[in-house]
Amino acid sequence: MKNIVSMLDLTNEEVYSLVKRALELKRGKKVTPREDLYVANLFFENSTRTKHSFEVAEHKHRLNVINFDITTSSVNKGETFYDTCKTLEMIGCNMLVIRHNQEKYYKELRSLNIPILNAGDGSGEHPSQCLLDLMTIYERFGKFNDLNIVIVGDIKNSRVARSNYNMLTRLGAKVSFVCPECFKDESLGKVVDFDEIIEKVDICMLLRVQHERHSEHMSLTKEEYHKNYGLTLERYKYLKDTAIVMHPAPVNRGMEIADELVESSKSVIFEQMKNGMFMRQAMIEKIIKDNNL
Ligand code: CP
Repeated sequence: MKNIVSMLDLTNEEVYSLVKRALELKRGKKVTPREDLYVANLFFENSTRTKHSFEVAEHKHRLNVINFDITTSSVNKGETFYDTCKTLEMIGCNMLVIRHNQEKYYKELRSLNIPILNAGDGSGEHPSQCLLDLMTIYERFGKFNDLNIVIVGDIKNSRVARSNYNMLTRLGAKVSFVCPECFKDESLGKVVDFDEIIEKVDICMLLRVQHERHSEHMSLTKEEYHKNYGLTLERYKYLKDTAIVMHPAPVNRGMEIADELVESSKSVIFEQMKNGMFMRQAMIEKIIKDNNL
């Protein structure tokens, strides 16, 4: 079974192919309609962008879409995660899109006979976000090699940071991190000073502070975080003319980024969301092809 659950499973060629195909789809190319296929979306964690852009992408493929409703499902009668997914396979679903708070949840589903698209696994990975970020970067710069990228914020709890760091480094970009001590992840790259690096970066990638994943209350106030680790109006002035500002969203306005900068000329935050639908179309197309559905 060919799934898309981790960026580590994709070769560079597959990544470039997905990025280029998503850009073609954005320019107006159409996918082959597949009215015979069924897809179920299972979101055990909250989502706006990922859930609904997968849903739009699925409709563009003319798939039959089942939005699994956890609140009225037999999960509430104690049915296991595996049994829930196996049930969806047995009633005729051809693929599953899953977001779950358990890291690497997909390992439990190895014996399923239908493919899985990972829409986020706890603090693990977020492949569709990583791929849409790569698409957005490639669309702007036409390359990854030698780009200077800083990832700022809640590194420790961020599945976006992990997927993007691994992939961008593999593709030849230079990636560094800015974060408070409490959000450090020693397994990733070096931590630098925001004010020293800001004028050198091509991409300033901000991360959401993931309050829902913190076991302890963050010691910094919103204002302190913004002043030390946020993209303030002052820091923005030091960015290169050609630099872009990214954020996977949802945004904590006034914390990771000044409210006024969310739609500033260097921000591609809403373009990332637009690109997400085309990338998810490309991913679905790949899953259909790779599994001969
Ligand atoms: N970026 C992202 O995953 O957003 P959602 O949580 O709204 O899907």
